Amino acid sequence: MGTSSSTLQNMEIARFMDNNEKFKAFVMESNTKKGIKIIDKSFLDDGDVFVKISFSSFNYKDGLAISGKTPILRKFPMIPGVDFCGKVINSSNKSFKKGDKVILNGWGVGENHTGGFSQFARVKSKWLIKLPKKISEKQSMIIGSAGYTAALCAILINENVKKKDGKILVTGASGGVGSIVINLLSNLGFQTVALSAKNKSYLLKLGAVEVIDRKDYKIAKKPLEKQKWAGCIDTVGGEILSSVISEIKYNGIIASTGLASSHLLHTTVYPFILRNITLAGVDCVYADKSKRIKAWNLLERKLDFSKLDFIKSEKNLSDLKTLSAKILQGKIKGRTLIKIGT
Ligand SMILES: NC(=O)c1ccc[n+]([C@@H]2O[C@H](COP(=O)([O-])OP(=O)(O)OC[C@H]3O[C@@H](n4cnc5c(N)ncnc54)[C@H](OP(=O)(O)O)[C@@H]3O)[C@@H](O)[C@H]2O)c1
Repeated sequence: MGTSSSTLQNMEIARFMDNNEKFKAFVMESNTKKGIKIIDKSFLDDGDVFVKISFSSFNYKDGLAISGKTPILRKFPMIPGVDFCGKVINSSNKSFKKGDKVILNGWGVGENHTGGFSQFARVKSKWLIKLPKKISEKQSMIIGSAGYTAALCAILINENVKKKDGKILVTGASGGVGSIVINLLSNLGFQTVALSAKNKSYLLKLGAVEVIDRKDYKIAKKPLEKQKWAGCIDTVGGEILSSVISEIKYNGIIASTGLASSHLLHTTVYPFILRNITLAGVDCVYADKSKRIKAWNLLERKLDFSKLDFIKSEKNLSDLKTLSAKILQGKIKGRTLIKIGT
């Protein structure tokens, strides 16, 4: 009789914990020297929980980190990868036990603590949350940090805008955050308008009621333009965000969460003091645990999981350098799953 795959996995984990078993990770030695490397657990930063990673995902920040052009990584060598899911293989914290399925998003992992583009991770238990029951490991990383950020943004809109107030604009709509927030907001009953340079039918299928081609969007010239949007999720910054601020309706709110176009923002105080609008920052990296659980609960309840196959691409550690160049050129649509587990 052959050995079952779970027995083999247990043997592999026992070897990993007892010896300096070797495994694969994508390592940045410096901003220019990078690639897949065989390492052992002494390479991993400290923590009270070891996780065998099943999947990671490719986020915009990973693109910045791997490109080496923006100072995302705080020390070298470093394993990038800002998120992962997997199974606990060893824990000295009683909240987690062997076999628990966990997710990690942010907390500086993949920036200043060895990250998710690796077969194993060692992290702080306070950074982990248990995988929600209705979400599989694979689905959790199709969603990934971009999708969890989308949920934080959707919560902000849902708590501050009434559906009857009007439409919600989503910029960078075909990207990871945009694709998921369109679906979530639509399923919450909001009318979403996608601003995108990509394929219209993709965005309509996710739930957008209208798509504005980015080349047809006129950048506002005046501080107060015609009032168009009850709210906005902005993932691009720069002149698009400046323009949207002057188009937000009285009492409206903008979730500023990204800079895919630019980190710059030129605006005036007029829309804030004359239209009572709010520009609210949304950060996923250091959001507290209760916010994270609320966001993952919203995803569990309101995301249309049948759309995940439609928005995902599957890639491997060997694809990371190519992905990095593509995401920084705005060429990636939807979400990219990184397959790690054996
Ligand atoms: N604050 C946080 O905690 C947090 C968390 C996650 C992500 N983010 C940030 O949010 C942003 C989006 O992340 P993502 O995962 O959605 O990235 P993504 O998948 O690369 O999507 C970004 C989208 O922005 C649009 N875009 C790209 N370049 C542009 C340009 N020059 N001008 C206008 N639009 C442009 C493109 O969409 P279209 O072709 O459809 O227009 C692109 O697909 C990034 O800046 C990321 O760092 C922040």
